[in-house]
Amino acid sequence: MATTIITKEQWAESERFIAKLKEDNARFAIKNGRTRLAHTETYGCQQNVNDTERIRGMLSEAGFEFTDDAENADFVIYNTCAVRENAEQKVFGRLGILKHLKETHPDLIVAVCGCMVQQEHICEKIRKVHNHVDLIFGTHALYRMPELLYRTMQEKKTVVDITDSDGSISEDIPILRDKEEKAWVSIMYGCNNFCTYCIVPYVRGRERSRKPQDIINEIKELVAGGTTEISLLGQNVNSYGKDLDIDIDFADLLRIVNDIEGVKRIRFMTSHPKDLSDKLIYTMRDCDKICKQLHLPLQSGSDKILKEMNRHYTKEQYIAIVDKVKKEIPEITLTTDIIVGFPTETTEDFEETLKVLEYVRYDSIFSFIYSRREGTPASKLDFVLSDDEIHKNFDRMLQVQNQICLEKNLEYKDRIEEVLVDGVSKTDKNMLSGRTDGGKIVNFTGDESLKGKYVKIKITNPKQWSLEGELI
Ligand code: 5AD
Ligand code: SF4
Repeated sequence: MATTIITKEQWAESERFIAKLKEDNARFAIKNGRTRLAHTETYGCQQNVNDTERIRGMLSEAGFEFTDDAENADFVIYNTCAVRENAEQKVFGRLGILKHLKETHPDLIVAVCGCMVQQEHICEKIRKVHNHVDLIFGTHALYRMPELLYRTMQEKKTVVDITDSDGSISEDIPILRDKEEKAWVSIMYGCNNFCTYCIVPYVRGRERSRKPQDIINEIKELVAGGTTEISLLGQNVNSYGKDLDIDIDFADLLRIVNDIEGVKRIRFMTSHPKDLSDKLIYTMRDCDKICKQLHLPLQSGSDKILKEMNRHYTKEQYIAIVDKVKKEIPEITLTTDIIVGFPTETTEDFEETLKVLEYVRYDSIFSFIYSRREGTPASKLDFVLSDDEIHKNFDRMLQVQNQICLEKNLEYKDRIEEVLVDGVSKTDKNMLSGRTDGGKIVNFTGDESLKGKYVKIKITNPKQWSLEGELI
């Protein structure tokens, strides 16, 4: 399928509605003596966080201000995730609460957007069970939000746009970001892999890469605003460029970003093992700004399950990649995603996964219990294990990995690490928190003015989930 780039005309149309919203908001402010407030909530992955930044960018241009408290808002929007059922449950829970809020604030406008509503059965459910939702739009209609919101406000009836286009990229949508020193930059959208358990290709569409020049311009702008750490984002960054009509791959893009003045750290996510080339490994090794951190989802260590998941690699091939990465970049920090309880998984299959964890010794893992997603091929399979057995396996895996995490962190004792300071630690208000090149969290005592700076820290007290150290 071809990639549609939103045309200048289409975006100009959206801008026309941003201007109309702005006028309406100005009238509201005069009448009520205050500005209209929007409240945004994001579920799921970094891509969604990035989309919400664009939603906030458009709302800000339309004259909205923001509130962290839904109760004070005139417009509440949930940007949703469909990857697992529990993310959907959370949104349904929130919508239930908003129903009561709307009884006391009848002018409140409620919107649900993103991956969850791109699925027709979910959209139907919202319309039936939560008919207080005023606006529903899917991932492909993001750029049309100003028009949809304006129509919702004018027409006072539910507006829905979950059209399934072949996907679109708009380079013009304004963006309002939260953090300054670190930023995520989408380099591509969608996914072509159709892992049998996964809903993403259905709700996000096929892979489409942004043009290198657009990415470079965005990064240069970020750097000019004080950002030094750039995380390149895509469902499978290793296939970047395959759909472009110029000759460029992900490793080439990394080198270009590495050459941008002012960028200090480059991270990227996510890498599909089947597309991870030697060229990429050498590029990571040779470019000094690329962080020595690799997130390489394994999903399962059983060849039978990997095949049924449509992952296109075997356990042996995966391990060969890891061996190569470790050989070329000995200081590499490795993380992964694991699914426990894929329908046909037996406990023997699960034990194959444990063996890989013990062999690779990841710095940390993101582990998930399989969640059935309607419309995916795996949703038609029968389960071999009971819920109880799956949960027992899951707990066993956590135990194994927790021990590995601790042992890996203990290796950091007395090391000196460069840390980019994020700010006050979330777990201990008396400490600052930041990340090493490898992405490990480091807590230490220091002045808040260090936020956004790179400091050298001696690790004094490695813990299971983080490192503690002292400024040197
Ligand atoms: N159930 C459980 N985990 C899933 N993931 C994707 N789809 C599912 C599902 N249906 C996990 C994969 C992926 C991560 C982002 O979410 O491990 O890498
Ligand atoms: Fe889902 Fe697989 Fe694509 Fe990742 S690579 S988004 S798991 S289909």
